[in-house]
Amino acid sequence: MHQGTLSVAVWRGDASGSLQTFEVPRFPSQTVLDVVTHIQRHLDPTLAYRYACRVGMCGSCAMTVNGAPRWTCRTHVDRVAKNETLEVRPLRNLPVIRDLVTDMRTFFDKWERAGGHFDGSATKSDDFARIAPDSAERKSIDAGIECIGCGVCYAACDVVKWNPDYLGPAALNRAWTLVADSRDSNEQRLHAVAGDAGCHACHTHLSCTERCPKHISPTASIAGLKRAVAKAEIEGKL
Ligand code: SF4
Ligand code: SF4
Ligand code: FES
Repeated sequence: MHQGTLSVAVWRGDASGSLQTFEVPRFPSQTVLDVVTHIQRHLDPTLAYRYACRVGMCGSCAMTVNGAPRWTCRTHVDRVAKNETLEVRPLRNLPVIRDLVTDMRTFFDKWERAGGHFDGSATKSDDFARIAPDSAERKSIDAGIECIGCGVCYAACDVVKWNPDYLGPAALNRAWTLVADSRDSNEQRLHAVAGDAGCHACHTHLSCTERCPKHISPTASIAGLKRAVAKAEIEGKL
């Protein structure tokens, strides 16, 4: 049994589109993704949006909900609706393909530019590498490793908006988990994150950290990169 209705304004079209309002039945424990899915299945099958896991693992369902970027499958309507209204738009700082779907290519290209893949030097004849669970190295890696690539932090970052070349919080967080990892041997990564579009462009205003649904602090990771870059410069390695 549903309990009343929710008035939902949804972005339609490309970057020059507009909001369209739908009336959606209210249910207990309803998520924002449930609302968007209801619209697509029952009111307008042409609505474009993205999701996969519905349980906070895949990172594909992020949208702007009442002005803030959020993972919609884990965001309950009760927490975000204002007077039984919702406004759902695509993520900020990314090109809009259609409706709620953004083009994530720039976001993931920046991971690659930041050296975001593991680059090991061990061979199959080497013993397993061990990083003690209570070591500072392990703590640095663990603090940032659960990123699901949802783009929420990227959409929340004003520096990305002002400087579209800026690598952004997610790519830099990923770079830090690898810089901190003694099993990785990519010595070029610090060069990649040290330029004008890299870690020094961060203004430390914490929007990424406040919004990350996985409670990661890209701000702390970027501070780690800044220290690593400064150390490499003093040692004449950069
Ligand atoms: S702390 Fe840095 S990366 Fe995070 S939102 Fe602010 S400027 Fe962007
Ligand atoms: S750091 Fe957090 S907000 Fe940013 S992409 Fe990863 S999980 Fe999403
Ligand atoms: S649908 Fe996978 S994180 Fe939301």
